[in-house]
Amino acid sequence: MSFPSNSFDEPIAPGEGRQQLAARISELGEWFHNLNLDGVPTAPHHFLGDFPSIKWKQLAHAIPLDLSGATVLDVGCNAGFYSIEMKKRRAERVLGIDVDDRYLMQARLAAEVLGFELELEKRSVYAADQIPGKFDYVLFMGVFYHLRYPLFALDKLIKKVGGRLIFQTMVRGCQQIRTWEEDYPFSNTEIFEQRDFPGMYFIEKSYSSDPTNWWIPNPAGVEAMLRSSGLDIESHPEAETWICRPATVIRGGQYILDRELEGSL
Ligand SMILES: C[S@@+](CC[C@H](N)C(=O)[O-])C[C@H]1O[C@@H](n2cnc3c(N)ncnc32)[C@H](O)[C@@H]1O
Repeated sequence: MSFPSNSFDEPIAPGEGRQQLAARISELGEWFHNLNLDGVPTAPHHFLGDFPSIKWKQLAHAIPLDLSGATVLDVGCNAGFYSIEMKKRRAERVLGIDVDDRYLMQARLAAEVLGFELELEKRSVYAADQIPGKFDYVLFMGVFYHLRYPLFALDKLIKKVGGRLIFQTMVRGCQQIRTWEEDYPFSNTEIFEQRDFPGMYFIEKSYSSDPTNWWIPNPAGVEAMLRSSGLDIESHPEAETWICRPATVIRGGQYILDRELEGSL
């Protein structure tokens, strides 16, 4: 199977001048996704480099090359980089949701220029559980640490995962992961001194000049939360990404979220 290349030496869109296209891109403000729109890069000076291509290259092998017939929900889709990659792999249906109109407009332009059919909808992850049905793949990438209520969102989103959850978050702190005991006595305060104990940093003010960075877990914290939300971790293709499948998301006939909200967990 051949996919459109990501290099920037592609021909200009037929019928539309490079300058016109560059102007349309620029009218949509600053882009977080550096996409190659028929030879015009959307974020050539991104602080993370050629982003998210550099990240995708590290995890692309962990997702099937042929997604024919698959349905995908891309949460926090931004300008649609991952949605488009799923379409390149022939996913039947890709629904991208985001809370930011500007990013959704960027995704619309990208899909139009590249000729992919994406469903794009303004919707928060907190309302994802109201989307009908389940998806074979749910992408929850780069959103978790932007949320004040991250586990609430994860437990909601789990209701939409029919096959796999692709989870990515910024991680900080100790990178080591080890297995911990099932329980510790109240008197044991020493575990909390261990840098590799599952944890999540709370950012009261700002980190990386972004006041929407609220909670940043360490990798042990990520894995603990994914398991606690009833997911089995299948693979960890790169430092910030985990691929999971639902295992014990339903307990006593109810989703974890519903049991927690009614006080019966
Ligand atoms: C760091 S970007 C990640 C974009 C993309 N998923 C990626 O990994 O490259 C975070 C995205 O999440 C979106 N976002 C923030 N809060 C959200 C929420 N409550 N529900 C859905 N999307 C949200 C932002 O608008 C932004 O597009």
